Amino acid sequence: MSKPKVLVTRKIPEEAIQLLEQYCDVEINPHDREMTRKELLESVRNKDGVLCLLTNTIDEEVFEAAGKQCKIFSNYAVGYNNIDVEGASRRGIAITNTPGVLDDATADLAWALLFAVARRIPEGDQYIRDGRFTAWSPTLLLGRDITGKTLGIIGAGRIGSNFGRKAKAFDMKILYTGTKPNHSFEAETGATFTDKETLLKASDFISIHVPLSPATKYYIGDREFDMMKNTAILINTSRGPVINEKALVQALKEKKIWGAGLDVFENEPELTPGLTQLDNVVIVPHIGSATVESRLKMGIMAVQNIIQALQGEIPDHCINP
Ligand code: DGY
Repeated sequence: MSKPKVLVTRKIPEEAIQLLEQYCDVEINPHDREMTRKELLESVRNKDGVLCLLTNTIDEEVFEAAGKQCKIFSNYAVGYNNIDVEGASRRGIAITNTPGVLDDATADLAWALLFAVARRIPEGDQYIRDGRFTAWSPTLLLGRDITGKTLGIIGAGRIGSNFGRKAKAFDMKILYTGTKPNHSFEAETGATFTDKETLLKASDFISIHVPLSPATKYYIGDREFDMMKNTAILINTSRGPVINEKALVQALKEKKIWGAGLDVFENEPELTPGLTQLDNVVIVPHIGSATVESRLKMGIMAVQNIIQALQGEIPDHCINP
C-alpha cells in the first residue's frame, strides 16, 4: 500500500522530518525561503496532509487546490490566525497547532525584551561598539527598575501565565485581564484579575499574550496609550495586529509611554514608518519560539498531529474536532 502524501511548506528540524517519513511520502519546499502563493497552490495538489507555517495563508483557495482527499493542515505554531478554520471544518479538514511546547521560550523572550527596554541594553551595546564609552557616568543610559513594580498581563493563558510565574523572582505585583479568571495562576502568583482600564492605568510593564481574533485586533491603540503611565513599557510577543502600530509609533515619539519591546508586527515583515528610527523600542524578528529545543518539539508535535489524522484518529491538538 502506498504511503499518504504530505507537503511540508518549509524545512523544519530534521528529526521531525525523519519521523514523518516513516509514515508518509514527504515533499518539502526545496528553497530556503517562503513558498510563493503559486508554488503553494501547485504543491498542495493531491496531498493528504500539509505541514504549514504561520506565514502561509491557508484559505478556501488552498483547500480547493489541495483536493477532497486532504485531511489535515498542521500548523507549525501555536497561533493559527493564518488559517480559515471554519472553511476547513466545512470540508472536514482537521486543523492542528503546537500548544505548550513553546511557552517557556516565548515567555523567556518577553522577559528578554522587557529587560532590554527597561535597561536599554541595545543602546548600551551600540554605545560601546561606536567607541563612545570613555568613562562611567552618573547619568549614562538610565533605565527603569523592574523589581517590585506592577506587571500587567493581557491574557493569562499558557504563555501569559508562564510569563507571570517568572515575575515571582522579581517580587512584582501582578494584574491580569482577559476573557475569564485563571484561578490556578492567581493561587500560584497572587495575581489579581482586573478590567482592561485598571490594568492599563496601574501597570509599569504591560505584556500581551492573547491570540489574534476580531476581538483582539487593535486591542491597544490611541485610547489605551492615553491611559498608560508615561513610564510604562509595553511588550508584545503575541501577534502584531493586537497593537495599532501607527498609534504605537506616535505614542513612543510623543513619550506617552517609556518604551516598547516587539517580537511581532502589524504587517509583518513590513514595519510602520518611523518605528526603526526610535531609540525607545527594541525590535526582534518574530523569534518567540526560536530556540533549538522548542522548534524541535514543535516539529515533532506538528508531525504527530499529521500522523494521527492520516491514521484516522482525531489529532491530540486538533482545533476543530
Ligand atoms: C506561534 O507559535 O504562534 C509563534 O508565533 C511562533 O512560534
